[in-house]
Amino acid sequence: MEIIITDNYDLMSEEAFKLVKNLVRSNPNSVLGLATGSTPLGLYKLMSDDYNYNGTSYKNIKTVNLDEYVGLGKDNVQSYAYFMNKYLFKNIDINLNNTYIENGLAIDKEKECKRYNNLLNELKQDIQILGIGSNGHIAFNEPFTSFDSVVHVVKLAESTIKDNSRLFNSIDEVPRYAFTMGLKNIMNAKKIIIMASGVNKAKAVYELVHGKITEEVPCTILRNHKDCILICDKEAGSLL
Ligand code: GLP
Repeated sequence: MEIIITDNYDLMSEEAFKLVKNLVRSNPNSVLGLATGSTPLGLYKLMSDDYNYNGTSYKNIKTVNLDEYVGLGKDNVQSYAYFMNKYLFKNIDINLNNTYIENGLAIDKEKECKRYNNLLNELKQDIQILGIGSNGHIAFNEPFTSFDSVVHVVKLAESTIKDNSRLFNSIDEVPRYAFTMGLKNIMNAKKIIIMASGVNKAKAVYELVHGKITEEVPCTILRNHKDCILICDKEAGSLL
């Protein structure tokens, strides 16, 4: 795994942006695997600015998102679909029909998992962007998720509910279940960029780089990927 440690969050975002921009420019038909959370916000801002000022086009780009809360639709401000639209899609010239995410409102969850899994088998990510949970989760693959997992519904770990409650009015509003790409779907990507910022990610980043490769710490599977880059700021990399 290649490791880039930057002085701060903005430089971390810049490093990731350079890779994404290169891909989009060299292959305007690429598939981008996208993530939500605070970590990729700087990257999405750089992509939006680059579209506005330099005209880098996303017209033929397709995107697949990692995960979505069960019970939240795209009009709900807390949904990941809403987040993607707000912070990226509405700021660039992407065709919304080419942006894919699990449907949080699907009644038949098993069917929805199958649908999204089939889609991911068709649309292999050229780059997959990832953040990391403080417990080492990637997407919503919590500790002890099988390394062979594909799209599934997960019961969120208490620590994840607590971490993500900062974005809700109260912890009771945080959905307890989510749809997520499985670890196998993530490992299918041609290239993976995992980003981390802040001292509360330091332990997870340490495990990612030096810990035993184990289902107990889902992110450790990334060390088996042939083209994975960790880009973190110096706080997140402070235990390395
Ligand atoms: C959520 C998401 C993950 C994300 C993680 C970290 O649990 N499902 O995909 O990586 O949060 O979020 P943040 O970047 O806000 O720290």
